[in-house]
Amino acid sequence: MTDYSLKPKVQEKQYNIYIDNFSIEDFKAKITEQIRGKKVLVVISKKVEKLYGEKIFPLCDDEKFTVYKFILPDGEKHKNFKNYQKILNFALKNGFTRRDCILAIGGGVVGDIAGFAASTYMRGIDLVQVPTTLLACVDSSVGGKTAIDTDFGKNLVGTFYQPKAVIININFLQTLDEKQFKTGLGEVVKYAFIEKSCGTVEYENLINFLGENFEKLMKKDVFTLKRIVEICVALKISVVEKDEHENDLRRILNFGHTLGHAIEKYTGYKKYTHGEAIVQGMIFAFNQAYKIGLIDENYKFAALDLISKFDFRAVKMPSMKKLANLMRMDKKANADKIVFVLPKDFGQVQICEFATDELY
Ligand code: GLY
Repeated sequence: MTDYSLKPKVQEKQYNIYIDNFSIEDFKAKITEQIRGKKVLVVISKKVEKLYGEKIFPLCDDEKFTVYKFILPDGEKHKNFKNYQKILNFALKNGFTRRDCILAIGGGVVGDIAGFAASTYMRGIDLVQVPTTLLACVDSSVGGKTAIDTDFGKNLVGTFYQPKAVIININFLQTLDEKQFKTGLGEVVKYAFIEKSCGTVEYENLINFLGENFEKLMKKDVFTLKRIVEICVALKISVVEKDEHENDLRRILNFGHTLGHAIEKYTGYKKYTHGEAIVQGMIFAFNQAYKIGLIDENYKFAALDLISKFDFRAVKMPSMKKLANLMRMDKKANADKIVFVLPKDFGQVQICEFATDELY
């Protein structure tokens, strides 16, 4: 087993992110290592429980801890206050104390709601993240954002709360359906376009890597997937270490998201996946950056070419006026200006503000 671990240092604490194509035994042992001696509340997606529940449980050394399972139905609509409260009540009813822990196994919905529960239960108990989708591996499980959705929008209630560990088993990605896989690829492509701005020591040139390894990636070749997850996670850590609370640099992780979130909101989070929406946001960003002279034609076409290779489902664009109203309500918005992350050079981005009429 190769053990690739990254150690981000945020909130004055350091934790490990393990990325590997773990065998089931090694995977169970790695989880066990993190939770030994504690009572464990497993929050697991219904789909993952069905596919992997019998393989993962019982964990190793079962006598050393007690496992309670909370199965969360799949889908963004379940990341709500009611389920958050149910998780807390379940923990309270079963006598969880501050010394115990929550283990989140699933995609972004599970990670976000379980993370929020862990961060608020008795003012914070240990959290171990086990992401099972590509999107959760490269984005939501890393960096400490937790949240639930409200009637007023997505992720409007939440905390910054770093986990005790993140355990990424690349093998989970093999059973993702095409829709889930592609939504994660949208975030992967995003990292390629922001790579140089993330401030890592090593420059991997993810744009080229994706171009050169495209076929292997689409066939879900394990080593290609592992390398891509490693690169994306290293980039995310580099950003989060510098700006955990998104006061400045972390905003670059929202490349494509200003417009993307507005598209998702406008279509009720039903019509397009997150990946499809942010890809449309990136296409808009490249066009806008070219329009105002930030990038030249060569980079714009090279970028759009890479995006088109992935054959993401096209978004039928609502009018910019309608989207602009939603973008002004975004958490990232500033008074009546709309904040965008725009490309400025190969793999580099910058933050720009626009009045609505500058977007047409
Ligand atoms: N998903 C963007 C961030 O974690 O900041």
